[in-house]
Amino acid sequence: MLWVQHKKSNKSVAFARATNDGVFNAIIWDVVVDPSFQGIGLGKVVMGRLIEQPLDKGISNIALYSEPRVQGFYKPLGFVSDPDGIRGMVYSRKQKKKK
Ligand SMILES: CC(C)(COP(=O)(O)OP(=O)(O)OC[C@H]1O[C@@H](n2cnc3c(N)ncnc32)[C@H](O)[C@@H]1OP(=O)(O)O)[C@@H](O)C(=O)NCCC(=O)NCCS
Repeated sequence: MLWVQHKKSNKSVAFARATNDGVFNAIIWDVVVDPSFQGIGLGKVVMGRLIEQPLDKGISNIALYSEPRVQGFYKPLGFVSDPDGIRGMVYSRKQKKKK
């Protein structure tokens, strides 16, 4: 998990986390930059740092879920959609409504 803290206000302005199995696979979760700090390169820096650790461990597959509107952010960082035709699949259990 890593975040960027604004020195003046002590506020966290960028955040992301990754999990990995220590061998083959890593997944990046929850990349988010405070709207008033977007567009100045923080997202790119956070992603660069987050990728460094699994790559240093020799982990070569780093996956993430991307909303369509953000694919243009991830693509220049080296992420591709559906590599070799592989598609992500999700089992999503619907929450029961509380009475
Ligand atoms: C997506 C997000 C993390 C980008 O962070 P950011 O700090 O604004 O991005 P950066 O300033 O580091 O931008 C790096 C590059 O990506 C580009 N970029 C940023 N957001 C983009 C987008 N949505 N689509 C296409 N390109 C984008 C920038 O123009 C910049 O290009 P450059 O290197 O050629 O100058 C940020 O907009 C965000 O938090 N969005 C809301 C949460 C979200 O959608 N997270 C992703 C969930 S899948």
